[in-house]
Amino acid sequence: MFEIYSFLPTKIVFKVGAINELHEHIKGIGNKALIVTGRSSTKKNGVLQKVEEQLKKLNIDYIVFDKIIPNPISTTVDDAAELCRKENIDFVIGVGGGSAIDSAKAIAITAPNPGKFWDYVPVGGGKIPTKALPIVAIPTTHGTGTEADPFSVTTNPLTKEKVGIGYDNTFPKVSIVDPEIMKSLPQNQTAYTSMDAFYHSIEAFFNIKANPYSDVLALDAMKRIVSYLPIAFENGNDIEARIQLAWASTEAGITETLTGVIANHALEHGLSGFYPDIPHGLGLCITGPYLFEYIFEHIYERLAIVGREVFGVYESDNKKAARLAIKKLRDFQEQFKLNKRLKELNVRKEDLEEIAKTGYRVLKGVVVVTPGNIDEKDMFKILQSCY
Ligand SMILES: [Fe+2]
Repeated sequence: MFEIYSFLPTKIVFKVGAINELHEHIKGIGNKALIVTGRSSTKKNGVLQKVEEQLKKLNIDYIVFDKIIPNPISTTVDDAAELCRKENIDFVIGVGGGSAIDSAKAIAITAPNPGKFWDYVPVGGGKIPTKALPIVAIPTTHGTGTEADPFSVTTNPLTKEKVGIGYDNTFPKVSIVDPEIMKSLPQNQTAYTSMDAFYHSIEAFFNIKANPYSDVLALDAMKRIVSYLPIAFENGNDIEARIQLAWASTEAGITETLTGVIANHALEHGLSGFYPDIPHGLGLCITGPYLFEYIFEHIYERLAIVGREVFGVYESDNKKAARLAIKKLRDFQEQFKLNKRLKELNVRKEDLEEIAKTGYRVLKGVVVVTPGNIDEKDMFKILQSCY
């Protein structure tokens, strides 16, 4: 039995060279934009300049806000929202990785409403944002799926809570997915971001709310990543590999909208909330296989499907095929040196219990859709096994 709720109000333009058509898709959206981006990469790779040229074509006034850091923080969102209010900004454009686009979404709901961003976070003020500025998303990475979902991940630097929020008004109005602008993504980021998309897919596939609509996208995304990540990792300029990985990210983003992730993302949010230098995709690769072993009895039938369809496992017994799937996943991650231990990343063992508790509190919604009915104590045990 399954149920499907589908709402994806985003115009997605997926095409090599799509960035050069940006002006056609944002006509009439507003007169003044805030471009939200990181400190350097979109300047170095010329993407920011391309966006500016497109805005000039429409005589749209704009301000560049380039203060977004990886694992973005809520105080930066508040600063940008204040700037929007002062400068009468009509819409926001997130250009860059997930951090820039997620921040653009957070700014979009903070600017037109009273107060600060944390007032609109369920574990913060708990208010619902009634208004939002229109959001345009231009991803330069292929993994977060933020171009096709309403979610925005931000950390409160005071409480170390890394939260994900998502409302009907935080879907991008327009997403420009241009694989051409992803070619400059460095090798390590190529692996991290692709594995983020992989975990969005595999977690959606195990989610207790999994359904045929998200299953078909999840399996397809995983297959593309397993086939094309090794190619893009070796040669970042391989445009075919970038196209395949960009689509894998977008379809995995749609699975997040349809179904969503499970406890692996709560484990990772706990971790990188405490240790912001741990890249999201790397954290997921560390905890993922241990989570799947922990809940093995509840997922082995689906894990066997992943083994056969994604990793080419040739085994008729479900439990054996499922064990082989976990082995193949670890082997795949090893190609990109992603099977690290938490100890190697200088995580303190005495922090693990608090990390589990915080991860559970901030993302309880994804823990409760995990097969096996797990809680923060189970998350603590899983983190211990990753140490
Ligand atoms: Fe993710």
